[in-house]
Amino acid sequence: MEVVCRIADMHRRAEELRIHGKKIALVPTMGYLHNGHVSLMQIARDHADVVIVSLFVNPLQFGPHEDYARYPRDWDRDIAIMNSAGVDMVFAPSVEEMYPNGFQTTVTVSRLTKTLCGLSRPGHFEGVTTVVAKLFLCTKPHVAVFGEKDFQQLVVIRRMVHDLGFDIQIIPAPIVRESDGLAMSSRNTYLNPAERQAARCLSQSLFAAQKLFEEGQRNAATLIECARARIEAEPLARIDYIKICDATTLDEVTTITRDAVMPLAVYIGKARLIDNVVLRLP
Ligand code: PAF
Repeated sequence: MEVVCRIADMHRRAEELRIHGKKIALVPTMGYLHNGHVSLMQIARDHADVVIVSLFVNPLQFGPHEDYARYPRDWDRDIAIMNSAGVDMVFAPSVEEMYPNGFQTTVTVSRLTKTLCGLSRPGHFEGVTTVVAKLFLCTKPHVAVFGEKDFQQLVVIRRMVHDLGFDIQIIPAPIVRESDGLAMSSRNTYLNPAERQAARCLSQSLFAAQKLFEEGQRNAATLIECARARIEAEPLARIDYIKICDATTLDEVTTITRDAVMPLAVYIGKARLIDNVVLRLP
């Protein structure tokens, strides 16, 4: 597995691969890899000749009081995981390489980022779109894989790709869950044992609402109430938001008449966890 740290080297290697007719897939990550990431790598492998994983904890997408400094990092473990997942190349630039002195160019998706996580994390999505646009330019992929756990991120990236005319196919990857339903996330590592137990309320509340939906309930307020009740029964949990939105526009819906998504963000102790279910009409 090749490790590339400089942007100029990444440009040259990506160009060489393209000249040789190779199809490139990018899996952007912030490292501290888990099985959710491995599933993205496998999906990337199914769509391309060369799998590049970027590993970069992006300071631009963290707010001043968020967890950038303590975000978990484990280079050796990540390298071992990528090696066994058959990754071909790792792009791991430094912060100085990505954001040189005087850096002042950003990419903004204006409306889709003004709701859900965008409300409690101002500037977060601008950090994400800026770094992802730059990663796309550096690694020149034909396809890029993003997990559905970060549903709003996926919708925002699709919008950016469409609006800016990137010639890149965005492939969504289903959420990978622990055996008790908790969506895999690098941030789960922040949970102590009691919090880890409590964190099950996220998926349990979503699954309960999804069951009601599958039984025919189409009223968003009723479904949200069902999920809210389950989370409020958990003393360690504090709801940031629970919504039901159109799966493409992220506009809130009152009655589900088209495919929708039910995203939520919940604090468990200090950790802010997100999860969602897609409510697909039969
Ligand atoms: O989903 C993530 O891990 C990050 O937001 C991403 C897409 C790698 C950009 O830093």
